[in-house]
Amino acid sequence: MNLKITIGKTIFNNPIWVASGTFGWGEEFEDLVTLKDVGAIVAKTVTLKPRIGNPPPRVVETASGLLNSIGLENAGIKDFKKNAFPFLKKTKTRFIVSIAGESEEEFTDLVEELKGQYEPDGIELNLSCPNVLHKGTKYTLIAQDPAAVKKIVKAVRRKTNALVIAKLTPNVTDVAEIAMAAESEGIDAISLVNTYSGMAVDAYEMKPLLGNIVGGLSGPAIKPLALKAVRDVYKKVKIPVIGMGGIISGVDVAEFMLCGASAVQVGTANLVNPSVYTKISKEFKEYLKKKNIKE
Ligand code: SIN
Repeated sequence: MNLKITIGKTIFNNPIWVASGTFGWGEEFEDLVTLKDVGAIVAKTVTLKPRIGNPPPRVVETASGLLNSIGLENAGIKDFKKNAFPFLKKTKTRFIVSIAGESEEEFTDLVEELKGQYEPDGIELNLSCPNVLHKGTKYTLIAQDPAAVKKIVKAVRRKTNALVIAKLTPNVTDVAEIAMAAESEGIDAISLVNTYSGMAVDAYEMKPLLGNIVGGLSGPAIKPLALKAVRDVYKKVKIPVIGMGGIISGVDVAEFMLCGASAVQVGTANLVNPSVYTKISKEFKEYLKKKNIKE
C-alpha cells in the first residue's frame, strides 16, 4: 500500500500526522508510538520569546470535549532550537514547526531562526490560537482578519521557500475566505480546524471553570463541524487542505479525506490515549483494504 503524499514539494510517508500541542515534540510518546511511522509531527507552537501562558485552570473536560486555554506556554525559539530540534531531527520523522507571533515581524523573525541547520520539513503558521488576542484590531484572532493573514503570509513567503502551512480558526463566518486570502499570497497548504471558542461554568461556585474564562473546544464533538469547514475550504482553494478536529479512528481519517483533506492531524485523541496513533493508522489501512484503495 502506498500512502505517500506530497504537500508543497515535500513528500510524506503517510497522510496521518499529529497535531501541534497534543504530542509535545514526540519525546513523551517514543515508548508508545513508533515515531518514524508517524506521517509528520507538528511540534507544539513556539514563539520568539518564552511565554508563561494563561492563568490556571487551563484545561477542563466538558460533557462533549476538551476545553483548553493554555495561552501558548512555551520556552521560546532559542530553547526550542537547543532542546526540541535535536530530538525531532533524531526521530527521522518528518516534522513541522508551529510558530506564532503577534506581528508580521515576529513571524518573519521566527522564520529566520528556522534556517540553515535548524530548517524543519515545514512551518505551520498558528494564526488561530483562540487563547491569544490579535491586539489593536476589531478581530479577536489573526485568522479572523483576512488583511492580517495576507500580510503575514506575504512576509513569510518572501523569507522562505520552505513548506509553509497556515492553520486557521473555524471561529469565522466564512473560513474559505480566509483560506483564499492565504492562498493568494503563496501559502503551500491550509490546515484546519483549530479549536472552537467556548466556555464552561461552575453553576454552584458561580464562576467560569477556566482561568482565562474562555478557551477552545476540541474532541469528537467538533468533528461534524470540522468536516464541513474542510469541505468549504477544499471547494474554494487549489492547494492541499490538512484536516483535523475530533479524529479518533481510521474511519474518521477517511471521512476527512472524503471531504477533501490530503492529510489529517490527530489531536486531542493523543491526550486521551497516548498510543492512539498506532490504532488510527492500523484502522485506516484496514479501511483502505476493505475499499480496495491501493494509494
Ligand atoms: C493554546 O496554547 O492556547 C492552544 C494552542 C492553539 O489552540 O493554537
